Amino acid sequence: MAKVAQPRSQVGVPERAAVALPPGAATESSAANRRSSNRKWWSAFALLVWIAVVALGGCSNEPAPRDTHNAISDSGDISSFFYQMLLWLDVAIGAAVIAVWAWTLVRFKRAAGDDTLPTQNHGDAKMEMIWTAIPTVIVIAITVPMLVGVFRLAKRPDQNQQIIEIDVTGKQWWWEFQYKNGSANGLHTANEVHVQANTAVVMNMTSSDVIHAWWVPRLTGKRDATPGRSYPLYFTAREPGIYDGQCAELCGASHALMGTKLFVHPPAKEVEVDYNGKKVKLDSYETWVKEQLAPVAAPAGPDLERGAKLFKDKTCPTCHLVKGLEGAESASPSMTTGPNLTHVGSRMTIAANTMPNTPENLAKWILDPQGIKPGAKMTKIAMSPDEAKAIAAFLTSLK
Ligand code: CUA
Repeated sequence: MAKVAQPRSQVGVPERAAVALPPGAATESSAANRRSSNRKWWSAFALLVWIAVVALGGCSNEPAPRDTHNAISDSGDISSFFYQMLLWLDVAIGAAVIAVWAWTLVRFKRAAGDDTLPTQNHGDAKMEMIWTAIPTVIVIAITVPMLVGVFRLAKRPDQNQQIIEIDVTGKQWWWEFQYKNGSANGLHTANEVHVQANTAVVMNMTSSDVIHAWWVPRLTGKRDATPGRSYPLYFTAREPGIYDGQCAELCGASHALMGTKLFVHPPAKEVEVDYNGKKVKLDSYETWVKEQLAPVAAPAGPDLERGAKLFKDKTCPTCHLVKGLEGAESASPSMTTGPNLTHVGSRMTIAANTMPNTPENLAKWILDPQGIKPGAKMTKIAMSPDEAKAIAAFLTSLK
């Protein structure tokens, strides 16, 4: 503890020199003062405008379909809780630091004519202990609940309850979903994944090429899909609805075009949900499963028959499965080279949640996949726009 109080002149601080001002200098200096005071006001105003632009720039009345602060699942709630906890803790710490700083400025302002040095407290053991103890308490207060949360997120749902288990595979640039148990056992779909509200879901994430990350912001946090490994993701979604997601790991040229959609179906009867301001009907989960497991009916009418024939002639079944269409049921070597198209007409979007599923978009996609998704593995097959339209009409009929 070293407390020193001595006149400034003795520690090398120069005294202010008293200089006589030449005539006229007072007027010049008061004009200069005014200019400097104007500059200060303008600077303060510019700073306020800048803060307002930064703070209010993100405000909007529009629905925010990818809002992580509006979680719809138990695991999303855990992440949101920590976000809110850290945010408000940081606000409180920031406010406390600014308050102490402002108080110090006022309390220890040097009085006119006072040329003593302030009290020197280098090595003050009491102060050192206080400012070591405060951050320690803060870190413990963050760590303990966070560890509890991490263990809760990593806890596999109890086996005695109903569980929907889905193997998820990230591919350049789409998602494959294979249902592993229950009524949906064996169901195989792409890009749009369907679960039931208030039912535990186990997703086993992997990848068949590079690292991807499956992320539906309103559901829960991101989960890496890594080749050669399987990471689980557990959640129970609460609110029936349709939620958009996005691959969250830079995975190549079309990473930004690797979306996904989560449909949370009601357990019993159909409900109407709001999706981006539009009303959409959602069947019960079991109804959806039943429809998806059924093989498709034979194409009805000459136009659809022509589309189905072209689909086969243009070698589409080399990569795509259509269960129920003769010649397109087992052609694919792994069954998973390209998305399963058995009920592609029932999907809301195509090309991994990047385009609405309309016959026009589908025809455009068939004609030139790389033009829409650069680097896509789907081959550009020589065909006329009319042939692409016929194939698209056939695929759209596969509800
Ligand atoms: Cu897959 Cu980014």
